Amino acid sequence: MTVHIGAESGDIAETVLMPGDPYRAKWAAENFLQDARLVNEVRGMLGYTGTWNGNPVTIQGSGMGMPSLSIYANELIRDFGAKTLIRIGSCGGMQPQVKLRDVILAMSASTLGSPSRGIFRELNFAPVADWGLLQAAAKAAEKHEANLHVGGIYSSDVFYDERPDLNEQMVRHGILGVEMEAAELYTLAARHGCRALAVLTVSDHLGTGEALPSDQRERSFGDMVEIALEAAFA
Ligand code: HPA
Repeated sequence: MTVHIGAESGDIAETVLMPGDPYRAKWAAENFLQDARLVNEVRGMLGYTGTWNGNPVTIQGSGMGMPSLSIYANELIRDFGAKTLIRIGSCGGMQPQVKLRDVILAMSASTLGSPSRGIFRELNFAPVADWGLLQAAAKAAEKHEANLHVGGIYSSDVFYDERPDLNEQMVRHGILGVEMEAAELYTLAARHGCRALAVLTVSDHLGTGEALPSDQRERSFGDMVEIALEAAFA
């Protein structure tokens, strides 16, 4: 047991999927894992462990934003021995070719600063995905209906952004989408010798202002869970 995860040691699998929303963790565990059981409910941040094709998997909510994800990822890695961490979440599209429901594999994640900023000081560390996971996810995505994009994303600190000029620079530099967690996940994975990837579904678009109605999100979210699981055990 840790401060934020009430699981016993041995309750958490080496492979962990991390949606931001704890209820998505519940949904994904109920729909994609066999024998899923609740292993954490501290602060309502639900975590489930079960198996997928016989392989142990934990699906643990991360909460929104890098400070929250940092708490869960640190405890999963340092106290429970997680080795493969895959964020499954939504993002805002930033390029015209990126459409609602498309899937983005985040090759890199740019930030203004993450909770790890303090240790890098003047360095601009470049958080990147694990190549093996990225390659396997791209291959797994071929079997799914969703259009796939692979490239850089932006891990922002704010959902209600008052600095449109920053988004403009990201768009200008080819960044595919914006979310709020991947950069810190990649940085922690690098630090601790783990594998990490973010598989994201485009739920809204900053350029067009479109947003996916909540009743249509489930299907595309399902593609993302399958791509993540297939990549983890490729
Ligand atoms: N901004 C930040 N995070 C997000 C967005 C967004 O537009 N959409 C989904 N996650």
